[in-house]
Amino acid sequence: MATDRGQPGKTKRVLVTGHQGYVGSVTVPVLAAAGIRVTGCDINLFDRADFAPGGAVPDVPNIGKDIRDLTPADLEGFDGVIHLAALSNDPLGKLRPGLTQQINHEGTIHVAKCARAAGVPRFVFASSCSNYGKAGDGMIDETGALNPQTDYGRSKVLAERDLKPLADQDFCPVFLRFATAYGVSPRMRFDIVLNNLIAHAYTSGKILMMSDGTPWRPIIHVEDMARAFLAALEADADAIRGEAFNVCRTENNYQIRELAQIVAETVPNSEIDYAADAGPDNRSYRVSSAKIEKAIPGFRPEWDAIRGARQLYEAVKAAKLTVDDFEGRKYKRLAQLEALVAENRLDENFRRVGAVPA
Ligand SMILES: NC(=O)c1ccc[n+]([C@@H]2O[C@H](COP(=O)([O-])OP(=O)(O)OC[C@H]3O[C@@H](n4cnc5c(N)ncnc54)[C@H](O)[C@@H]3O)[C@@H](O)[C@H]2O)c1
Repeated sequence: MATDRGQPGKTKRVLVTGHQGYVGSVTVPVLAAAGIRVTGCDINLFDRADFAPGGAVPDVPNIGKDIRDLTPADLEGFDGVIHLAALSNDPLGKLRPGLTQQINHEGTIHVAKCARAAGVPRFVFASSCSNYGKAGDGMIDETGALNPQTDYGRSKVLAERDLKPLADQDFCPVFLRFATAYGVSPRMRFDIVLNNLIAHAYTSGKILMMSDGTPWRPIIHVEDMARAFLAALEADADAIRGEAFNVCRTENNYQIRELAQIVAETVPNSEIDYAADAGPDNRSYRVSSAKIEKAIPGFRPEWDAIRGARQLYEAVKAAKLTVDDFEGRKYKRLAQLEALVAENRLDENFRRVGAVPA
């Protein structure tokens, strides 16, 4: 791994925040397989979301702190940080709007400043294509206007804005603007588009459309996200320092109704159904992946929606997924956070009350 100050031949150490989440639990094994020694930092908010078809949640050392409480001393000795810990869902912003900013925006800058102070050379930030928000039908690249429609999207835009000035010869922040994730993970979510459509189709025979199906939504498999993190750790710093990259495949921009059609063709005896209040959705964007293909030539997503839908269908069948499972707190981030607050296991600032569950 060519980190900016890395010593050749030494096993590299990387801190992954949010390593026990949907993306993190797929990313850790990909890094480990590349010979990287991984430490995590997570308060394990979604320990109910274990999903056997995704395998086991990786067991690596966990600093176990809220990211808002990390100090430079916690970051000493790492060669890179992959920063995933966040409130990761558009509707979550509505639950406590200030907290999405506090954790996703200010928390990110806090972790980056700790890393920089500790001399960590690389900081890979999990940003989002929802930064573009309402971009219409045209193909958008990284120079396109940022027009986030949610607190979540705004928090990612502000984090990128404030990370960029931290870049210098010794500190290389990079912003990966991921499409919406899909695919099987040990810590599953069914509140993201393709996963949700498959879960509906399998449990009810209906592919429930919450919008009129016209919005564009690029998607990326969670394993491709993991490979993107590895590629960003290994890339030449001069090619990526302070830069944002869309991470998807240009061909993997779908209209939601196309995804619904793929699901209908994958899940036997299922049909598309429009929710009673289905209307246009403000969030629509279609993104180009040309920039990352040029800057990091070795990286290219491998999955597409048809293969992903088949993987998801086989997994929900193996897990015998029920409506209660996927409509309740188990696999829905918003519902789980609301339940933890109601049980006084999270305070009003979403800080853990009591010990972090192992
Ligand atoms: N899932 C997607 O579609 C998608 C798309 C683009 C970008 N991303 C980004 O990728 C990252 C990971 O997303 P995910 O889908 O794995 O989310 P997730 O909710 O499954 O995982 C987030 C993890 O962060 C931890 N966490 C949250 N707040 C914390 C805090 N204050 N301190 C310590 N740990 C905390 C949680 O316990 C959880 O394990 C997020 O930054 C998200 O914005 C996700």
